[in-house]
Amino acid sequence: MTEEERQDSAIEQFDAQRKELTRLMSYYRCAMMEIETKFRVLNEERASRWARNPIENIKCRLKTPESIIKKLLRRGWPVTVRSIEENLNDVAGVRVICSFIEDVYELSEVLLGQDDVLLVERKDYIANPKPNGYRSLHLIVKTPIFLFGGRREMKVEIQLRTIAMDFWATLEHELGYKRGIELPEEAKRELFACAEESAALDARMNALKNAVIGDKDEQDAPGDLKEIVEGILRSGRTA
Ligand code: GTP
Ligand code: MG
Repeated sequence: MTEEERQDSAIEQFDAQRKELTRLMSYYRCAMMEIETKFRVLNEERASRWARNPIENIKCRLKTPESIIKKLLRRGWPVTVRSIEENLNDVAGVRVICSFIEDVYELSEVLLGQDDVLLVERKDYIANPKPNGYRSLHLIVKTPIFLFGGRREMKVEIQLRTIAMDFWATLEHELGYKRGIELPEEAKRELFACAEESAALDARMNALKNAVIGDKDEQDAPGDLKEIVEGILRSGRTA
């Protein structure tokens, strides 16, 4: 092979990877849109039947190629397009900010009950908050997108949390998590105390909702949901 041929071949390979990456990112964007729509449909139904919005806000984000590569390198995984799909669960992210704690669990149960949503992993940081006080329900799901060439399963990371949990997580992220810096012990204790206070507020607001509008919209909820939620509310009150 001449020097020129070697160059051409390298450029060709690079270009093929680049195109493949662009295509993969577009599939992730589609899967993210599918999941977002599923939540919007559920919110729409509640709004029309009970004049209530279980969802306050939905935020979608795609990991940037830069942060994908950084994560692959950090974990010692191959930096190839194939490795992205094999190793990363959080390229497509959907964050669902819910009104009340009960909405978090109900939306997650109903979503997972859909026959084109497969649960890969579930981490309940509400029942088991992280040591720093972080609360949210994390799901990794697989869902199909339908392309000209047929069906393709994609992974999406879903974070469900209340407005109060989002308030805390956003500010905590701003202070430390984002920059990967270690906060002073005093600041960590204070953040933890804030997390506990917001959890107590969430529990009170949820109780208030049930006192004011009753549990009308829980009529359709799965049977064991009430028990889960009551357990969390009890632990929230003692916090
Ligand atoms: P990553 O590989 O870093 O994504 O961690 P993981 O696979 O163990 O995932 P985990 O479910 O624990 O957390 C994933 C995401 O949840 C993060 O990218 C953040 O968006 C959010 N998160 C997790 N822990 C915290 C936290 O302590 N504070 C804040 N603000 N966000 C968090
Ligand atoms: Mg992540």
